[in-house]
Amino acid sequence: MAVQADECWAILLAAGRGERMAEACAARGAPAKQFLVWKGAPLWWHSVLALAAVPPMRGIVLVFPPDLLETARQEAEKLVARRHPGVPVLFQAGGSRRQDSVRNGLKLLPSSCGIVLVHDAARPFLSPALAMRTIAPLLERSDIDAVIPGLPLTDTVKEVSASEGGLLVVRTPERKGLRAVQTPQTFRVAPLCRAHDRAEKEGWDVTDDASLLERCGEQVLVVEGDESNRKITRPEDLTMLNEGTDSVPCCGWGYDVHRYGGIRPLRLGGVAIPCPEASNLGIIAHSDGDVLLHALMDAILGCMGGGDIGRIFPDSDPQWENASSSLMLAQVLDMAAEAGVRPTHVDLTVIAQKPKLAPHAGEIARNVARLLHLSPAQVNFKATTEEGLGFTGEVRGLKAVAMVMALRETGRS
Ligand code: CTP
Ligand code: MG
Repeated sequence: MAVQADECWAILLAAGRGERMAEACAARGAPAKQFLVWKGAPLWWHSVLALAAVPPMRGIVLVFPPDLLETARQEAEKLVARRHPGVPVLFQAGGSRRQDSVRNGLKLLPSSCGIVLVHDAARPFLSPALAMRTIAPLLERSDIDAVIPGLPLTDTVKEVSASEGGLLVVRTPERKGLRAVQTPQTFRVAPLCRAHDRAEKEGWDVTDDASLLERCGEQVLVVEGDESNRKITRPEDLTMLNEGTDSVPCCGWGYDVHRYGGIRPLRLGGVAIPCPEASNLGIIAHSDGDVLLHALMDAILGCMGGGDIGRIFPDSDPQWENASSSLMLAQVLDMAAEAGVRPTHVDLTVIAQKPKLAPHAGEIARNVARLLHLSPAQVNFKATTEEGLGFTGEVRGLKAVAMVMALRETGRS
């Protein structure tokens, strides 16, 4: 019969100092390896997303070095706002040894939590499937309190001891009886807490949590680990972070209309279009009324799932009164960069009966390319009329459409 499925939480350990690769991290502006930025987010965030995707997961306790807890919490809040992981995240200060950090994390688990995964933030390639493999036996069997992932060794291992003449081999354990173990290591909460209490009282010093249960005489089940779930430990491991920084294409479409008969001088793509004074081609608009840049901004927001400009620059807000659309575009591009989205090509069309836009097409395309940091070959501009039909034909207004292709870094948002 299936055992009662308790709430499952994870403790993500990110409180180490990363001494074995301190210099390499300092050179990259990170206080420790778990804060290195990979695919637009610190390493620890990738484990948050993987753990949150495990079906029975109900919450995650993040453990950071005490002196970095506040800055890490602020960073986490930004990341959560960008992409909510779907489960609550709590914050805790770590201790001086790994096992002290786990012990502190355990204190924050709610009483409803029956199963806990302990995972190293230094293993950012965790898959939800591996995490689930460590949970499943605890849901299915009542005779097991601890499950860890292990991999067979490919190297022969020697036990050694130091002597005056150098290291000497003591013995060679049989390889097929050995496993290299990883995290997440998954436990029923009560036995793990008991083991940590005993370790504290009796002064045990261990490098993983399963060792504590072993010393308490508990059985620890080993399930198949994952070769790709490697730990970033030494500077040479940084090459693992060069892999997989791929981008995927995305596209967005924008459309905007403005009425003629207003006071704003006509601007398209940030370029002033001279119109005779009596032409009635002034624009009615809250901002500077650049219909082309407005359509372009909506298309960029479309690439990043960012809604539309009305949400970002509401008409009701006086700060956008006669605002420069070029500056608004700069703000939208900043948001896109933050989301890992980089426009690579735009195709723009203005639909207007009047004025004649062909003489300005080159200047508009060049200016839009400049504003987007693109080459002229990546921006196309064209203008058309609607053959006298509809509101553009009657010269009551004009409209613009924009298509943007972009690359979005994978692993973001
Ligand atoms: N860890 C922790 N608290 C500690 C020590 C380690 O939370 N006091 C975490 C690390 O942040 C890491 C994981 O435990 O995610 C595995 O530890 P390790 O790879 O040894 O990382 P560090 O201890 O940070 O590195 P080093 O041993 O090189 O100093
Ligand atoms: Mg360590």
